[in-house]
Amino acid sequence: MFGLQHKFRPFYYFWAYELAFLRYRAERIPSATSCGIDSALLFKACPLKPALFQSAVGHALRTGVFPCSIGKNRNPMIFQRLKTGVEVSDRDFDAMYAGRLREISKIHFTPVEVAKTAARFLVGKPGTKVLDVGSGAGKFCMIGASCTNGFFTGVEQRKSLCQYSELLSRCHRLGNTKFIHSNILEIEFRAFEAVYFFNSFYENIFQNNPIDSSVELDKDLYVMYAQYMRKQLGQMPVGTRLATYFSYMDEIPNSFEIRAMDFDGKLKLWEKTT
Ligand SMILES: C[S@@+](CC[C@H](N)C(=O)[O-])C[C@H]1O[C@@H](n2cnc3c(N)ncnc32)[C@H](O)[C@@H]1O
Repeated sequence: MFGLQHKFRPFYYFWAYELAFLRYRAERIPSATSCGIDSALLFKACPLKPALFQSAVGHALRTGVFPCSIGKNRNPMIFQRLKTGVEVSDRDFDAMYAGRLREISKIHFTPVEVAKTAARFLVGKPGTKVLDVGSGAGKFCMIGASCTNGFFTGVEQRKSLCQYSELLSRCHRLGNTKFIHSNILEIEFRAFEAVYFFNSFYENIFQNNPIDSSVELDKDLYVMYAQYMRKQLGQMPVGTRLATYFSYMDEIPNSFEIRAMDFDGKLKLWEKTT
């Protein structure tokens, strides 16, 4: 009996992954179909709890075995095109995200062209260690990792986004990304050589279009995070590069000077001078 169960265990895992991911996607596209299967039918057939999704993701990350439903979203050419300098639209890139993430990408994640420009500025030499403060679903890091030879570390407070970024990065075999599930307050900036910032603390001030409800949002947190980042940037060595997109500049010490601006001044490229 044990032998039989053991033999079928891989199939069980395979279907558990598939169903968990299909359910996860269907929850975010309730009116649509998921991989051609009607979502209502899917819910009936698959009464899975979110915990199973979490454990499926965790298991996939540990074993390197990824569900086919991620594979279906996968467009290996996107990263090949980024690597070779061929244009990639945001619509094409965002297609790899599940429904809700694809929606919010337009507001919350860096556009492809902005990410390329910022990453190329930040990576001054091969292997430059770049920190993305609040990495979301990994868009900036994955684009930077594809179009430069820097190493991109994303720090993200939302566990699901962090896991999703890690999963996509591994699925697309990007060897120069890493995602840390943490609050930025736990991170020493001096472990990195360059910093990217897409107004991550803004959600604490304007809470009308939140990514989700999994973290506490508060105006005081904006001040605390901005002050912490300002202090950390102040301790970086002269020559450190920083790229900010849509920043209010509350987190930038006077020791940084603007070297260039792009995208109507929304992207600012800085260098530490003193
Ligand atoms: C505007 S999104 C940018 C995502 C990513 N950098 C990109 O451009 O594709 C900001 C992200 O920062 C995260 N964030 C905000 N405050 C944070 C904090 N104190 N520590 C870690 N992550 C934070 C949010 O959860 C959100 O996912």
